[in-house]
Amino acid sequence: MESQNVSRRSFIKSAAVLGVAAQTIPLVNVRAQGAGRKFKVALVGCGGRGNGAIGNFLEACKLVGVEAEVVAMADVFKDKAVATGKKYGLPADRCFDGFDGYRKALALPLDIILLATAPAFRPVHMEAAIAAGKHVFMEKPVAVDPPGVRRVLAAGAVAKQKGLTVVAGTQRRHQAGYQQIARAIQDGVIGTILGGRVSWCGNVPWIKRRETGEDDAHYLARNWLNFTSMSGDHICEQHVHNLDVANWMLGRPPKTAVGFGGRARRETGDMFDFFSIDFDYGNDVHIHSMCRQIPGCYDGVWENFVGTKGTTMGGSAMKLFDGKKVTLPEIKLATDHGQVQEHVDLLKSILKNEALNEAQNVAYATLTAIMGRITSYTGQLVRWTDLLEQKDSPFFNMACTPAADDFEKGPVVAPEDDVVTVPGSGEAKKKAGKKGKK
Ligand SMILES: NC(=O)c1ccc[n+]([C@@H]2O[C@H](COP(=O)([O-])OP(=O)(O)OC[C@H]3O[C@@H](n4cnc5c(N)ncnc54)[C@H](O)[C@@H]3O)[C@@H](O)[C@H]2O)c1
Repeated sequence: MESQNVSRRSFIKSAAVLGVAAQTIPLVNVRAQGAGRKFKVALVGCGGRGNGAIGNFLEACKLVGVEAEVVAMADVFKDKAVATGKKYGLPADRCFDGFDGYRKALALPLDIILLATAPAFRPVHMEAAIAAGKHVFMEKPVAVDPPGVRRVLAAGAVAKQKGLTVVAGTQRRHQAGYQQIARAIQDGVIGTILGGRVSWCGNVPWIKRRETGEDDAHYLARNWLNFTSMSGDHICEQHVHNLDVANWMLGRPPKTAVGFGGRARRETGDMFDFFSIDFDYGNDVHIHSMCRQIPGCYDGVWENFVGTKGTTMGGSAMKLFDGKKVTLPEIKLATDHGQVQEHVDLLKSILKNEALNEAQNVAYATLTAIMGRITSYTGQLVRWTDLLEQKDSPFFNMACTPAADDFEKGPVVAPEDDVVTVPGSGEAKKKAGKKGKK
């Protein structure tokens, strides 16, 4: 019978994948190995996070003591690629536009590619990057549907064979506080985990309106955050961070999900506003997941686990029921900025020739979120095996349209704004009601 606790074996397995083991390598040794090394890097997706990620990468290069050369930018929109390229002295002919721009970047001699577009494109871009032999940093989430997740898992396995590093933008895995909590849980400090709750409640981050004369493909690339086929819905796009922590702390993904959600006040796109899901991790361990994007309501982003001896909250607090003081294990990282540390870990793994491969962790976190979305959209119970193994399951090939590959083949048709899925009614979709004020 599967242990209810986080087994040592499963923790060590995930710890190795996380690069926790790599923390024991003193940075000073890595700096010696990095002396005189230069890494050529390109960025695909020159938006808010892409611009952040390249800055984080360059900061990590300084910490690790290696040189960096920015060789290309790619974005659907030429102006965005050029604006980011300009910051790094790139000529316009190294700033590629269009849905195939990533191919032009990958054709150049480069070591590392940073993937930060709308999530729908991640499986395609990652596959191409691994096929081209590049190390990858990719933002979360890494897919929007079960077939996309399976592509990422397959590409991650190829990366493993090729010895390529794949690091994901699930930055909590690279923060000392979360690593301390994970170690303490594994050491049994709060006893056997009985259950928990994870939350991402806040506002709609942004809305982008269709520009005059803009075709569906470019509208979707611009307003991707509000369409399920582009973002995976906000349970996938944002809440994936908290679900990743749940999988990490429990040492396994969920077995089933039952939940619900709805749309009350969204202004564009076809996504829900809120979700409430019961994830069953087996052996009577349940995690309640809630996420909401509605302004003017309770805000809260956290993870909480309850064990037989105590509880945790987020990436820093652990409390015991007997009132004894908890001393968390010491973990020292190069920086307390998780989004820089993830690039430090990426560079360290390349310099040590010990490929760090986070593809499975982030693919599983993404699939957990997709499982939560599917149960809410359909109103049905969804099994993990429905999404990864059971080819005859109605959910196995439940793919979003338009699919990422379609954008390189010709015009695509965007889902209609404000038309949403109705749970329990099969494929039925319905025009959403009148919106409240933002
Ligand atoms: N780790 C984190 O904390 C964190 C924070 C914010 C965003 N993100 C993730 O980063 C990714 C990007 O988010 P963002 O906030 O930067 O969005 P954004 O809209 O600001 O940027 C996305 C960019 O990608 C471009 N793009 C879209 N599809 C493309 C394609 N097929 N090829 C090339 N370019 C394409 C868009 O034109 C845009 O410039 C998302 O996956 C998001 O979930 C992660």
